[in-house]
Formats: sequence, structure tokens, C-alpha cells
Amino acid sequence: MEKLVIRGNPGLRLGGEARMSGAKNAVLPAIAASLLTSEEVRLTNVPRVKDVETMMTLVDDLGGSHLAEGDAVSLRVPRIRSDEASYDLVRAMRASVLVLGPLVARFGKAVVALPGGCAIGSRPVNLHIAGLQKLGARIALEHGYIRAEADRLRGAEIEFEKKTVTGTENLLMAAALAKGETVLRNCAREPEVADLAELLNKMGARIDWPDPETARIRGVRELGGAAHAIIPDRIETGTFLVAGALTAGDFAVRGVVPEHVESVVARLRASGASVEPEGADALRVAGAAEVRPQDIATSPYPGFPTDMQAQMMVLLTQAAGTSIITETIFDRRFSHVNELVRLGASIEVQGDRAVIKGRTPLSGAEVVATDLRASAALVLAGLVASGETVVTEIEHLDRGYERIEEKLGGLGASIERIRS
Ligand code: EPZ
Repeated sequence: MEKLVIRGNPGLRLGGEARMSGAKNAVLPAIAASLLTSEEVRLTNVPRVKDVETMMTLVDDLGGSHLAEGDAVSLRVPRIRSDEASYDLVRAMRASVLVLGPLVARFGKAVVALPGGCAIGSRPVNLHIAGLQKLGARIALEHGYIRAEADRLRGAEIEFEKKTVTGTENLLMAAALAKGETVLRNCAREPEVADLAELLNKMGARIDWPDPETARIRGVRELGGAAHAIIPDRIETGTFLVAGALTAGDFAVRGVVPEHVESVVARLRASGASVEPEGADALRVAGAAEVRPQDIATSPYPGFPTDMQAQMMVLLTQAAGTSIITETIFDRRFSHVNELVRLGASIEVQGDRAVIKGRTPLSGAEVVATDLRASAALVLAGLVASGETVVTEIEHLDRGYERIEEKLGGLGASIERIRS
């Protein structure tokens, strides 16, 4: 088991610069898209994180092969030897469900375990299934698996009941090879969805956007290979910007797309922090002497991201006053609250709302988190907690953050990974 040991203090001064990695949630669908062609798909700016390795292993198990060198990954799936994504894999990473659309579209069959719940709540895939059925897939749910078959998918008009990121991604990939035209309405607008559509078009798909929430896909008979650079990780960017707002000093976050973090930057500025563009792909952040409280509700992009909710909560524990965070996307995404309370925060959960009373000085303790972003929040709290904070079970953190201790250490934080 590995853990992170952080020696923090309330007056921690950070400086220098940190370079962000590619977006985990953009590279996962991009790897799944390699199933749609027999030619090579070459991705660059790929973060070396656990979920990416899991996804590459899944494509290998299905019959593909991959070559990883540095931040580049080349994938090729000439044929498949299995069409099944096992429960162990899907349980380990819900994003495995992203192989469903490509497998049905190219090979006419897919067997994917139903993802159960996870630390942040129930994770249904009913919208993925309903969309594929509209495209003509025959789907049976049995023994905890989705069994999907189709001779050839046919284009259809589909409107998502609610915005779903991977649901939109699955249907974009499936429709790319369907016969005829598909229109997807009420699509998720996350940058990772747009990045996938760009990759698919490079592969020969014909996707355009009559409006930001509507995709029109004219199906083609087959797709080819492509080379594609993955967009920067906007959630890692937001996480580091919160580190800047939480601490004294100022530093630059490089390799970012400022437009992708506008909703987070707006909230950080409202809290009193300074966040200013520095060149085309960097933001400079500086903490405020006094953090102002505010009320935030998570919402689909371009709203405030649910994946930044835990991190922002840490900042609000240092605000001079009471703040309310409402989590509208997931039904149980407050696992970080009890751990923050152990560090000295005063937070009360009332249904989908967390009421944070600041300012509360934080003192170091041993803490554990059960989801990726909650773990990141505990690391942030450790930076400004007096004394030593030990974050255990950091395999959750390693799923989506590349070398976070090196990047924070490079800014002046005292943080080290130890094996116990
Ligand atoms: C993606 O998950 C991200 N994961 C999540 O990031 C992120 O939190 C989430 O989008 C919301 O932004 C990846 O992109 C790999 P959804 P996804 O389908 O696609 C409900 C992280 O930390 N829903 O947009 O699984 C669902 O229950 C992870 O990197 C249905 O009801 O989320 C939720 O309430 C955590 N039926 C809401 O929609 C469905 O068929 C949004 O879920 C699908 C979803």
C-alpha cells in the first residue's frame, strides 16, 4: 500500500510552475475509438495514469495491441478475439462501458458488464442502452451483463433524457459506423466529448454540430487510422488552481486551455483569489489574504464541474463565513466530507447539500478517500493543515493524477510518497 505524507502549514507559500497532463477523460474514449478501425490510432499527450493503463489492457484483451512510449500511445485492432468486457474490469473502471458502442458498431456484438455503483453513487447506463436500441441494436440484460447485437446499426434521431458524458461518447462512436444519418440531441458539452468527435472526424467520420448540444453524424462504411493530441486535463488544472487559491504565494499552471476552466476560475476569483492568463496556454494563480464564502451548485459543462466539487469544498473551509455546495450530478459524492471533518473542517451534509462553516484551521491527520477527486481534495487540505497529513489508499489518486506529488513538490510543497 502506498500513501502520501504531507507536511503542511496554513501559511504555505507555493511558487514556480506546474505543467498539466493530458485529460484522462479524453483519452479513455479515444482508446475505445481505436476499436472502430483496423488501422493505427496514435494518441499523444497521454497521461500515465492507472485508468489509461486499464483501458489499454481492455483493448488488448479484446484482441488489439498497443505500444506506449513516453506520452504517446499507438493502438491497432485488426480483429477481435473476444467481445466481452468483464465485470472485474467494469467494476474497476466504469469507463470500460465505452467499448460497448464501438464493439457493436464494428463487430455487431458486445458483452459488457453492467457497472454497479461506486463511491460517488449509482452509475446507471440506461441512456447508453436506450440509444443503442434506437440505432437498431438488440440488447438483453442478463446475469449482470449487457449483451448487444446488431447486423448493421441504422441512423436514428435520439434525444438524451439527461446529459451523459460517456453516453454521448458511446453513441457518437456507434453512430459513426451506422447506416444513414443520426441526430443526437441534449448531448453533453464537456470538452472531452468534443475532443472525441474531432478524433472520429480525423478517422473519417462525418460529425458536425448544428448547435452545441446537437450532433449530426452521417454514418460511413468504415473508419481509418489517425493521429491525435489529447486535450489538457481541465480537472487537474482546476485542482492546481485551487491549490493556488488555498495557499500564499503565486505560481503558473502551464499546458492548459483557459476556456475549459472558465467556471472554476470564476468561482476562484469570487473567493478572492487572483487568476490571470499568462500566454496562450498558462494561468497564473495567487491566493487571497482572506477567502470569501459562496454558494455553488454543480452542473454539466459549461457549469461548475462535479469533478471539482470536493476540491472547492476544501477552499471554502478556509472562507470567512458559511458556504453551501449542492451536488446535482451524483447522488452520493460527499465521501470527502467526513475526512475533512477529521482534519478540523466544520461541514454538515443535508441531502444533496453540504453546508461549510469557515474559517476552520485544519490540523494534520491520517485520512482516506474512496474516490479520485475526494483523494485530491484531501491532498489539498493537507497542504494548509498544520502538521502532518497522511493520505492512504492513494491508488484512487493514481487513477487520474500523474505524479501529483512531484508537481506539488515542484511548487514548494512538502509531500512524499511512501510505501508501507
Ligand atoms: C463522466 O462520467 C466522467 N468520467 C466523470 O468523471 C464525471 O464525473 C461525469 O462524467 C460527470 O461529468 C469519464 O468521462 C470517464 P454521466 P459518466 O454519464 O459519463 C446519470 C472522474 O472523476 N446517468 O455524465 O459516467 C448518472 O447517474 C469521473 O474522472 C444516467 O442516469 O457520467 C449521473 O447522475 C468521475 N443514465 C449523470 O447522469 C445513464 O445512462 C451524469 O453521468 C448515464 C448517466
